[in-house]
Amino acid sequence: MKDRVASSTAYTVLQGLLLIAEKPEYRHLVTAETLKTGKTILERSEEGRKRLKQLNSRLFRALVPMMERLILPGISTHYGLRKKYIRDAVENAISQGYTMVVNLGAGFDTLAYELHSQFPEVTFFELDHPATSAHKQSALDGQISNNFHLIEVDFKKTSAKEVLVSHEAYDVAMPTVFICEGVLMYLPVSDVKTLFSGLAELGEKTRIVFSSVTSFSDPKNNCGPVLNLYLRIKGEPLSWTIALKDLAGFIKDQGYVLLDVAEAGSLKDRYLPNITPTMLHRGECLVQVQACSTRDEVEASCPSE
Ligand SMILES: C[S@@+](CC[C@H](N)C(=O)[O-])C[C@H]1O[C@@H](n2cnc3c(N)ncnc32)[C@H](O)[C@@H]1O
Repeated sequence: MKDRVASSTAYTVLQGLLLIAEKPEYRHLVTAETLKTGKTILERSEEGRKRLKQLNSRLFRALVPMMERLILPGISTHYGLRKKYIRDAVENAISQGYTMVVNLGAGFDTLAYELHSQFPEVTFFELDHPATSAHKQSALDGQISNNFHLIEVDFKKTSAKEVLVSHEAYDVAMPTVFICEGVLMYLPVSDVKTLFSGLAELGEKTRIVFSSVTSFSDPKNNCGPVLNLYLRIKGEPLSWTIALKDLAGFIKDQGYVLLDVAEAGSLKDRYLPNITPTMLHRGECLVQVQACSTRDEVEASCPSE
């Protein structure tokens, strides 16, 4: 993570999303408001304007499938599927009475921004590295209401728990859904564990929607031959990976129960039932977990083998 510049991968996710929004078969995955807000965010920086210019270039669009094959096959479509899954999970949690939504490492995601005006009774927080968070804050300046808070933090120096408990708008008594999308893989496993245990201790009712990746050597992962090099050059190398088969055990060890897991095939079946995409990204899962208040509760929901 480079200290002074906004996250390169945050730009890449948003750019990929805007790219698929132009394709009729994937357009339903991206809301009109995401498109509008995403463009506003990109227009506010030199790097963002470069990304927008690329989106308007026929040559760039023609080269994307080849670049994706080398780095992450099918990744733009995957961003659309991933975001649709998370939107559904968060809206579902809100419909069940969750009144706080916290996006950890939110990047240039627009979900909290979109929902904060739709659900004024829900309080939204976004935490991200200072350079990325500050850029978003300035891009959305004047368009944010009192129930939406953007907070600058480096998770390597300060935990999400510490930041949240000291924030005046954060209320530990409120049922909270956390989003951690495309972030945990950049943290060492010790930080991932600290994050999960910290969030479980934070409040009465805690749900987390997160994405996790399998290792590059896992045959289920179809990442391209130059992904590792690409991420190193961008200053955001991968750190934590976990195989699908190990997820339930990992989650249980952190004091959570698994509510749902979706990998490439199930995301496609759910959101693209009538389409056969040329390429699906395989290697990142979407997961929903619920914190248990006691160890007995964890054991009861997921008995040891
Ligand atoms: C791949 S982007 C994902 C952005 C967003 N969640 C999405 O999926 O659209 C990774 C995000 O994690 C944030 N991040 C990575 N390491 C971080 C750290 N140590 N502290 C705070 N944020 C971090 C980056 O700034 C970036 O916004």
